[in-house]
Amino acid sequence: MNAEQAPKTIYLNVQRGVGDGPSRTQRYELPEGAAASLLDGLRWVRQNLDDTLAVRYSCINANACKECMMVLDGKVVYACVVRMQPGVEHQVAPLPNKARVRDLISQIAPVKERLQADDASGDDE
Ligand code: FES
Repeated sequence: MNAEQAPKTIYLNVQRGVGDGPSRTQRYELPEGAAASLLDGLRWVRQNLDDTLAVRYSCINANACKECMMVLDGKVVYACVVRMQPGVEHQVAPLPNKARVRDLISQIAPVKERLQADDASGDDE
């Protein structure tokens, strides 16, 4: 096996944090083939390495729901569409101009469509 045939690791350096709190970068190493898309990689991380990583998506690779928007290597992308490059140190972050909810989840719902604290309680009184 020569160097070109050797499996290459996928590196995801993910900016994590909650709300306005401090951010930290967590590095994940994925085997080649674990992730064709960034969303595949993040789902692989959740299933195999760290189920606390917060990611939002809905349609999974259909590019229909637009809920997987985040920043990859400085560019806003749809995580379900953008392809991973093994051997590259990818930088992953939440959207820069939206409030962070947790990790890679940003507040993208219009203000009128957001649940208010009273609505989320499930209390009908
Ligand atoms: S998961 Fe729906 S557009 Fe990416």
